[in-house]
Amino acid sequence: MAALRAVGSTRAGEGRNSGGGGGMAPPSSLRIHAPSREPKARTMAGAGKVNNPRRRGGGGGGGHMPLWRVAVFASVALNVATLALLLHHYAATSPHHHHYAAAAVDWRDRSTASMAPSTGKPAVTPDSVINLDHGDPTMFEAFWRETGDAAEVVIPGWQTMSYFSDVTNVCWFLEPDLDRQVRRLHRIVGNAAADDGYHVLVGTGSTQLFMAALYALSDAAGDGDGDGEPVAVVSTAPYYSSYPAVTDFLRSGLFRWAGDADTFKGDTYIELVCSPNNPDGTIRESVLDSKTGNGKTIHDLAYYWPQYTPITKRADHDIMLFTVSKSTGHAGTRIGWALVKDREIARRMTKFVELNTIGVSKDSQLRAAKVLAAVSDGYERRPEMTSSSPTTSRLFDFGRQKMVERWSMLRAAVAASGIFSLPEETSGFCNFTKETAATNPAFAWLRCDREDVDDCASFLRSHKILTRSGEQFGADPRYVRVSMLDRDDAFEIFVNRLSSLK
Ligand SMILES: Cc1ncc(COP(=O)(O)O)c(C=O)c1O
Repeated sequence: MAALRAVGSTRAGEGRNSGGGGGMAPPSSLRIHAPSREPKARTMAGAGKVNNPRRRGGGGGGGHMPLWRVAVFASVALNVATLALLLHHYAATSPHHHHYAAAAVDWRDRSTASMAPSTGKPAVTPDSVINLDHGDPTMFEAFWRETGDAAEVVIPGWQTMSYFSDVTNVCWFLEPDLDRQVRRLHRIVGNAAADDGYHVLVGTGSTQLFMAALYALSDAAGDGDGDGEPVAVVSTAPYYSSYPAVTDFLRSGLFRWAGDADTFKGDTYIELVCSPNNPDGTIRESVLDSKTGNGKTIHDLAYYWPQYTPITKRADHDIMLFTVSKSTGHAGTRIGWALVKDREIARRMTKFVELNTIGVSKDSQLRAAKVLAAVSDGYERRPEMTSSSPTTSRLFDFGRQKMVERWSMLRAAVAASGIFSLPEETSGFCNFTKETAATNPAFAWLRCDREDVDDCASFLRSHKILTRSGEQFGADPRYVRVSMLDRDDAFEIFVNRLSSLK
């Protein structure tokens, strides 16, 4: 062993020398060579040299084996025994040995088990608390279960390792296939002019791109030295509850939440236009008009898809935000995209994502690209190429049918109860489906009309229905926002319970 260690240290020394002082090769790579023939030969040679002085000093004669020979014999025997032990150990742990293979199978089983995905919220029973506070889009699971491998992705271990995706693109971490599939889907649906000179940017959810847009626009509105007043960020009430929360979270010196756009006085601002609007489903336009050009607008079009609203025009605003969370239901993939007209704004938004998360998960981007491709294929494949019905291969048909059913169930429950009211249904001609269709918002903006109830969220909570109070949207607490995108069982329990409230 001592001899083996000596060889090891000699080689380590070589490694250090040949490495030019770098020492990049790990010492363990040297140890792997220990049981090989080469070190053994060197060991023997080394042992001979070491014993030379002993031969001189302890030379014996006659019929006795000289002491040095005994020493050499003992040393060789020791080394052979050590080698045998080492080889046995190596064989027992070798990748080719059956014990290792068995261990590998166990390990695979364990890794498969640990990769079993989470399923989100727990299953519900008629007595459960029904949580419709978040817009968790689990309604779409039923569609994706039917699509087989159309949206499946396999990513080998060596792929998606670099930080970079396309260094020639202003958004250098955008996967080219996601770029293509985003433009293709907008072309098919006709909801945004993605091909008309727009830059596609990707974000970890559209939430990250919302922050990126605030950064890019407030920087553009100021004089660039960052010592001016924070730019006012406004949106017409009721506004998406995350807008004030996300805007003021880090107490930025660049921008600050300034409330309802309808009551805002000033000319330097960032107006957030959400259409169809979260929480009330209304179709919106910007309400402010800047005289100096210091007013900017961000259009959040998360719900501008055919399952929620007729597609009445090809949107072509300066900054438009979309997300797979609401278009396909893949909220957990955390992919959003922005269509941005101006290159300098696109560059600043990209900078924000670079400094915030050094890009966006490529694995998620590839999955999002595959999912968007599956949606487009559902509409571009010729009918003879698919044996499935439109609602098993066409996402927007599935989504629209579900939403129509749910809104009619909800309206029936509200009528049966008699203590609630909902916004009037509106409709329009849809350029995508080529027919007149009603709006089916992703949220119900429900008002509790009972005189003695001034906090609708508390009232519903006492009946085990969780919703979000109107107060969080800059509105009256007699209103609540209710998600329409949960699983069938939860939605059915909700409408049954609602219809029984008097
Ligand atoms: C209007 C609106 N914009 C953006 C988002 C967030 O999207 P993402 O999941 O892509 O961050 C939501 C989610 O509820 C939303 O309602």
